[in-house]
Amino acid sequence: MSAPLLETRGLGRNFGALLAVHDINFRLEAGARHALIGPNGAGKTTFINLLSGVLQSSTGQVIFKGDDITEMPEAARVKLGIARTFQINRLFRGLSVLENVYIAVAERTGIAPSKLRPAGTRKNVVDEAMHMLETVKLQDAAGSLVSELPYGRQRLVEIAIALGLRSEVLLLDEPAAGVPSAETHIILDAVAGLPKHIGVLIIEHDMDVVFRFAERITVMVAGSVFTEGTPEQIRADERVRAVYLGQEAHRGAAHG
Ligand SMILES: Nc1ncnc2c1ncn2[C@@H]1O[C@H](COP(=O)(O)OP(=O)(O)O)[C@@H](O)[C@H]1O
Ligand SMILES: [Mg+2]
Repeated sequence: MSAPLLETRGLGRNFGALLAVHDINFRLEAGARHALIGPNGAGKTTFINLLSGVLQSSTGQVIFKGDDITEMPEAARVKLGIARTFQINRLFRGLSVLENVYIAVAERTGIAPSKLRPAGTRKNVVDEAMHMLETVKLQDAAGSLVSELPYGRQRLVEIAIALGLRSEVLLLDEPAAGVPSAETHIILDAVAGLPKHIGVLIIEHDMDVVFRFAERITVMVAGSVFTEGTPEQIRADERVRAVYLGQEAHRGAAHG
């Protein structure tokens, strides 16, 4: 078996007495379409925070392409190619959509936007930024200020920025959360249309989306991996139904 793109060994994180993430052995393959599901409080977000370096682990290792990056801070992991969608307030709301992606591409290529050359004057960088916007179908909004965009399309700018960083791993923590239901499809379409070579790990509550998108599903319960498998295996797993899917079905039903 070839080395995975991103791997964890015995990864754990506690908050005081609470074992939020416990002894996780996980593999994300190059180009993977992998979903992480589980009840609220299972430790999914904490796990992604450990992968992206937002949180330091208490135990275990994070390994990227065979290198131990457990101690590496978030910014260095981004440079290596591990990106996550950012909170909305990390966008430059007073700049245009294109300028936001331009800055990400310019940072990656080492061309700092200078005072003498206002953002948007380096043609190759602009071309690449436009290409990222086309990938998430945001090219028509290139000239709009981020602050003028509906919330759902602002989330697309974050995905375009992650693409502008030439990421090989993209970590998406409920990318459609908080987006009005009429707009969620544009996010999910963009996720479905991500370049094939990127390994994607998505936390998503909507099981229709998960089963459509994922080729592999990891189920977390109470900080640990409960099980992992193909969508078919997870759908057929009675225990998963009991701890999670049944709960979802129950929530969706008008009467128990
Ligand atoms: N910064 C924190 N301090 C203390 N407890 C936390 C912190 N972050 C998360 N937790 C706790 O860790 C557990 C896992 O949380 P989280 O990773 O957000 O779960 P999920 O994303 O699966 O809903 C929960 O019990 C949560 O309350
Ligand atoms: Mg969460």
